[in-house]
Amino acid sequence: MYSNWSDYVQTSEELYRSRALRFHDGNKTKWLDLLRIQDGMSVLEVGCGSGLFAHRVKTYLPHTTVTGLDFDSGHIAFAKAKSHELGLDCMFANGDATAMPFTDQTFDLCYSFTVMEHIEPNAFLHEQYRVLKPGGTIAVLTVLPGLNLSGENWQPTAGEEQKLFEKAFQAAPEAPIQIRKYPLSVSEYAPIMEKNGFRDINVNVMSLVSYAPDSADVPVERAIECINVNRLFMLNSMSKALNLNPAALTKQERSRLNELINHRFDERIHCYENGEKMWDIATINVVALTGRKN
Ligand SMILES: C[S@@+](CC[C@H](N)C(=O)[O-])C[C@H]1O[C@@H](n2cnc3c(N)ncnc32)[C@H](O)[C@@H]1O
Repeated sequence: MYSNWSDYVQTSEELYRSRALRFHDGNKTKWLDLLRIQDGMSVLEVGCGSGLFAHRVKTYLPHTTVTGLDFDSGHIAFAKAKSHELGLDCMFANGDATAMPFTDQTFDLCYSFTVMEHIEPNAFLHEQYRVLKPGGTIAVLTVLPGLNLSGENWQPTAGEEQKLFEKAFQAAPEAPIQIRKYPLSVSEYAPIMEKNGFRDINVNVMSLVSYAPDSADVPVERAIECINVNRLFMLNSMSKALNLNPAALTKQERSRLNELINHRFDERIHCYENGEKMWDIATINVVALTGRKN
């Protein structure tokens, strides 16, 4: 059992719900174009997390054979349970992206979203080259920090809530997992892909508004979910700090922090429901590199 990612970085639920907001029906064509995916393909998602993308692909393209791989057993258990709940025939495997449990030349497409920056890039690409069929496609999708607009009103900027957060984090030891170990600039991705045998490299960028509850084209249910996913990020952020150092806050402080976070997001929903617009937005720019195995 290895679950450091879901214990210390992103819980399965927050990953699933935040991805669901990005990969919603209104963005379906954009994502499928970016992935260069067609119905009937045999597809592998490398570093699939808790499985939202794989589920969406299978729902939209029911004749694809969809497999997801991740080394976090918590995420894989979540993805399998969700498949069952949704009645989707997807396969999920626990394993390392640099030594995958698949035979050579199995897949038409290997894709990943925000994964390559965490794994030694040559090992990551070489392994996908091995499991792709000749002529198969790789799609490396990532979100580069600095290209995005973060949400306003997500983090407390002053007051009791911020002080309690600082206290929770101050004494926390380092998490037993290091993320973004291999950050690359856009111009570094393509040469590494070419070095690992991929040809016909294409670079694309897709801009998404990932949070805009007050926008007229966002349905009520999604608007409320946007706010609640940010509530979940904050609550989980507190829990992760306390996983690392349970003594950082007293029981009373922990419950007070919980109360303050919930109050802030309840207020935001209250404003939304009363038509008091705040126009807080967040955007992401997804950089997608695709290449072909000869
Ligand atoms: C930022 S998350 C993205 C998850 C998923 N692609 C999504 O967007 O919902 C990165 C994922 O890569 C996985 N991961 C990191 N290193 C890995 C490795 N060496 N082998 C397999 N999975 C890995 C983590 O467990 C995590 O689920």
